[in-house]
Amino acid sequence: MKTEILPSLLAADFGRLADEILRAESSGAEALHLDVMDAHFVPNLSFGPDVVSLANRVAPNFYRNVHLMMTRPDLYLEAFMKAGAQTIQIHVEADCDIHAQLKRIRSMGMRNALALNPETPVNRLYPYLDEVDEVLVMTVHPGCGGQKFIGDCMPKVAELRRLRPTLDIMVDGGINAETAVIAANAGANQFVAGSYLFKRSDMRSAVDSMRKEVSL
Ligand code: DX5
Ligand code: ZN
Repeated sequence: MKTEILPSLLAADFGRLADEILRAESSGAEALHLDVMDAHFVPNLSFGPDVVSLANRVAPNFYRNVHLMMTRPDLYLEAFMKAGAQTIQIHVEADCDIHAQLKRIRSMGMRNALALNPETPVNRLYPYLDEVDEVLVMTVHPGCGGQKFIGDCMPKVAELRRLRPTLDIMVDGGINAETAVIAANAGANQFVAGSYLFKRSDMRSAVDSMRKEVSL
């Protein structure tokens, strides 16, 4: 499996969004993580397809990983596909037919992924493991950046890795150089980091050192 580092745009300076997207691209990170919040699935509101489309316009070759924290992601798949999403992550806790939406995402030519909140047991993912390109184990309660990593989520990562030795397993929330190593040891190979990367003046060296740490 490939190790991937994904800066989360939520922690960027929104007054300079285009420059921030370019800064993330030139950091050497594999993909940009875009957090969409609907003020229903989570209390917060973030942004919609226009920001995905901005990323597509300013950095067309920088892969776009779109995390939909939405109660009804099914109503927006087409809009995000048109905006240039390349992977769409929906939550297993969402209020829609998960099997059908995972299938739809693939049929639209994108990679699909299923995300799991900290309080949701890992067995909720089992019925879908043969239908997903990637799983996202949340390591904070979704809704905002800058929270503390919840280490209690690691047994879920380890269990998924045991069941699927080659599946892409992503962690998201409170990831920095130290917590990334904890997640890597449990079996994660994709690491989302918002505050830790965007708050650095030299994002490239932060990405490099994180990659080195998780590859040991
Ligand atoms: C949390 C989002 C995360 C968030 C991570 O609701 O899904 O992607 O941006 O931010 P940090 O890395 O600051 O915890
Ligand atoms: Zn996210």
